[in-house]
Amino acid sequence: MARTIVVVSGKGGVGKTTVTANLGRALAARGRRVTLVDADIGLNNLDVALDLEDRVVYDILDVADGRIEPAEALVSDKDYPDLKLLPSVKCGVSDKIKAARFAAIASVLNMTSDYLIIDAPAGVENGFHRAVCAAKEALVITTPHLSAVKDADRTARLLYTYDVKSVGLVVNRVRYDLTDRGEAVAPEKIAELMRLKLVGALPESDVIGINAVCGEKGESAKAYACLADFIEGKSDKIYSPDTGRGLFSLFKRRWQ
Ligand SMILES: Nc1ncnc2c1ncn2[C@@H]1O[C@H](COP(=O)(O)OP(=O)(O)OP(=O)(O)O)[C@@H](O)[C@H]1O
Ligand SMILES: [Mg+2]
Repeated sequence: MARTIVVVSGKGGVGKTTVTANLGRALAARGRRVTLVDADIGLNNLDVALDLEDRVVYDILDVADGRIEPAEALVSDKDYPDLKLLPSVKCGVSDKIKAARFAAIASVLNMTSDYLIIDAPAGVENGFHRAVCAAKEALVITTPHLSAVKDADRTARLLYTYDVKSVGLVVNRVRYDLTDRGEAVAPEKIAELMRLKLVGALPESDVIGINAVCGEKGESAKAYACLADFIEGKSDKIYSPDTGRGLFSLFKRRWQ
């Protein structure tokens, strides 16, 4: 049985799809069987983020309508065969897939995965309800911006009305140069304000800005490795670009 984790935010565009794709890859790199479910029905782009768009043949609507089995719709990642994607649909058919049907599909995929990660749409409407109903754990994604934090906070409160047993916070697009100067709120402080457990912090990245997946080297890759270790219960370390907070590392960071 898989751990079923839904990735939610509140405000759109804060990095749910990016986190789903890169966390999935980091877990797959550790040998886990990972199934990613694109629950952003109508505005999906997890296939694009993973560069799998050209491999998609069937989608979640084919499965929901009973034309094919869930496993037949899965697309394997190019680098990690045990990383699979259940693609979503582009056209406006969101209301055709009911929450119970979606959860039933998830529970079938659950049986052949170690992790089932569901990329939810922005907001707290029907699509959110459908994605959250299928999960037992949630990752709330926010950026350090006040508007994103406020919306994430509302979303997190809503999660407790579902059967979600554990809620963790991931702060994305952290500018450590700004947090060091006290010009942006640090991830730990955001978690404290939201009264959520911080499970990951991810740096602002030029690589991700261009490619969606961060590859295996560089600061984002380190941050995702940290997040994967945290989720696996192998470490309680939250990524930070330094090994120390000394003057040398501060100096180095300002000039890199
Ligand atoms: N750490 C990062 N550094 C730089 N750019 C990032 C980072 N994380 C995400 N992005 C960029 O932010 C944009 C939005 O990311 P993404 O699509 O993952 O957000 P989302 O929450 O899934 O959006 P939506 O709510 O529309 O589904 C993308 O262009 C992505 O490349
Ligand atoms: Mg998205």
